[in-house]
Amino acid sequence: MLSKKLEKALNNQIRIEAESSQVYLSMASWAEVKGLEGVAGFMYRHSDEERMHMLKLVKYVNERGGHANISDLKAPETEFGTLTKMLQELYDHEVFVSQSINELVHVTLEEKDYATHNFLQWYVAEQLEEEALARTVLDKINLIGNDKGGLYLFDRDIQQLTVESAASDNGGEQF
Ligand SMILES: [Fe+2]
Ligand SMILES: [Fe+2]
Repeated sequence: MLSKKLEKALNNQIRIEAESSQVYLSMASWAEVKGLEGVAGFMYRHSDEERMHMLKLVKYVNERGGHANISDLKAPETEFGTLTKMLQELYDHEVFVSQSINELVHVTLEEKDYATHNFLQWYVAEQLEEEALARTVLDKINLIGNDKGGLYLFDRDIQQLTVESAASDNGGEQF
């Protein structure tokens, strides 16, 4: 049985994952309208992954005798200015989510809930990979700057970019 404190913290993470999915869906739509099909595809996939992160938490909370709450969500921005700004926001958002997971892991230790501590290790590892992936795309776009040809290739190549390939870009290590 989950403690009330941990149940509340897990429900908070459920909302954060759902909001992440919405933010990335909004980025996908913005990129699609701008004609950046590769970026749009990448962000649509990322949005689906965040929904999967949310669902995994929902099922876990309910399995452990809690009640996963599905709440209303903060509306995401609809305009992102430039692709560089959008990718910076993506990176910042992943860093924010990592911090939130860390705090959640801290609560499991306070509550001495080692099953949930163990369950959350998947999220800890996933956040390392997602931060690395966001860092990779941000570094690439910063290199390209305003070069139109570079942007064209970036939009084409990002379709192939996944968490796994970004990890191998970094020498196959999760640092
Ligand atoms: Fe996530
Ligand atoms: Fe994420």
